[in-house]
Amino acid sequence: MDLVVEGRAYVRGKLGRWAIGIEDGRIAEISRTIRGGERMDLGDLIILPGAIDPHVHFRDPGMTDKEDFSTGTLAAACGGVTTVLDMPNTLPPSVSTDKLAEKKEAISRKAWVDYGLFGGCIPGARVEQMAPMVVGFKVFMGSSTGRLLVAEDRDLAGIAARVKRTGKVLSVHAEDEGMIRHETGKALADHLRNRPAAAEVSAIRRLSSLDCPINVCHVSSAEGLQALESLSFTTEVTAHHMLLDRDSEGGAYLKVNPPLRTKEDRLALFQAFVSGRIDMLGSDHAPHTIEEKEQEFDVAPSGVPGVETTVPMMLAFMKRGTLPMEVLVSAMAEKPASRFNLNKGRLEVGRDADLMVVDPRAAAPIKVNYLHSKCGWTPFEGREAIFPRMVFVRGELVVEDGEPVGERAGRDVVAAERS
Ligand code: DOR
Ligand code: ZN
Repeated sequence: MDLVVEGRAYVRGKLGRWAIGIEDGRIAEISRTIRGGERMDLGDLIILPGAIDPHVHFRDPGMTDKEDFSTGTLAAACGGVTTVLDMPNTLPPSVSTDKLAEKKEAISRKAWVDYGLFGGCIPGARVEQMAPMVVGFKVFMGSSTGRLLVAEDRDLAGIAARVKRTGKVLSVHAEDEGMIRHETGKALADHLRNRPAAAEVSAIRRLSSLDCPINVCHVSSAEGLQALESLSFTTEVTAHHMLLDRDSEGGAYLKVNPPLRTKEDRLALFQAFVSGRIDMLGSDHAPHTIEEKEQEFDVAPSGVPGVETTVPMMLAFMKRGTLPMEVLVSAMAEKPASRFNLNKGRLEVGRDADLMVVDPRAAAPIKVNYLHSKCGWTPFEGREAIFPRMVFVRGELVVEDGEPVGERAGRDVVAAERS
C-alpha cells in the first residue's frame, strides 16, 4: 500500500471509522485496519470524496488575465474540488478538434486537480469527431459571455441527434434567447427584468422535445424547477442562485446569467437542493476582473467566481444541520461522477483516491485574501465556510491548510479513460 489514511470516512452512505488503503492513485482497500504502508491517522476528522464541479469557466486560453488553468485549479483544490469540468467559451472557443487540441496544449501541466473539457456545440459543429476529446457537450440557448449561441430549434435538434450518437451528455444553458430583452439597465432588478424566469421555463419546454441525455445547468427559478419536475433531465444549481438575489448588495459584481432572481426563487432553490431534488452542485465559476466589474452596470460582463467557496459554504450548512451529509455528497461527488462517467466521486475500492479531509469545528468567515482565483474578489465575503484541511488527488496530497503542497499532477479525465 502506498498510503493508508484512517479517520471517520463516508463509506456506503454513512460515516464510520475506516482505514483507506491507496495504491497507484486508486482506493485499493477499505477495512477497519490495514497493515503496511505509510499511515496517516486523521483522528476524528471527516474524510469525504473530493468534489467534482461540473461547471467552471477557467478562461485558458485567451483570457488569462481573468483566470488561468493554474490559478483556477488551485482555487478548486483549496475548495475541496478534485475534478473540474471546464466550459468551451474560452478564446478561441472549443468548438472543433483543432481548438480542443490547442486548449489541451495550453493547459497541460498547469492543473492542480483533474479536469475534463466540454465541447462547444454550434450549428455545423463536428460533434462525433470531438467526442473522444471531451467529457460532455455544452450549448447556450441564450446569449452570454462568448459567442456560442444556438437559438433555433432546428439547430438544437441537429446537435442533440449528434450528441446522442456519442453517448455523452449535453449540458445546456437554458434561457430562451427569443425572450431575453436587450434593454439598458442600471441594477440587478433591471437585469432580471431583461432575463425573466419565463425565458428559463420556455427554454426547458423546448428542450423536452429533444432526444439526447440533457443536463440543465444552473436552474435559477421556482418556475424552472417546476417545469423540470416531469422531465428526465439532470439538474445543476449554483451557490449564488441559492444564497443571493436581486436585492443583494453588489451591483454589477453580482450581474450573472441566468440572473439573480427574487428571494422566493432563491429559497425555493435552496429548499429543493437540501431535500435532494436537484442533482448536482456546480459553481459556474465565471471570473471577471475587478476593473471589468467596476464599469457601468450595462457594460460590465456577467459572471461570478465560486469554485473555491461553493463546497466550503455547503459544508458549513451541513455542520449547522441544514443540509444532510448524504445530500451534499451526492450532489457534489456521486451524481457528477455517474452523470459524466468518471471513476471518482465515492470512497469505494477501485475508484480514484480523490479525498477531502474536513474538520467540522473549523468554520470561519470567508475572506478574499485567502482565496486563490486570479480575479481577486468574491460575492461571498464574510459568509461562514469550512475549508478542507487536506485535499488528495489520486492519492497525492495537493493542498494542506489552504495552501498548495506537492506537485501539479492534474490529468485530463478523458485521456485517462482511454489509457
Ligand atoms: O454569467 C455568466 N457568465 N453566464 C454564463 O453563461 C457565462 C459566464 C461566463 O463565462 O462569464
Ligand atoms: Zn457557465
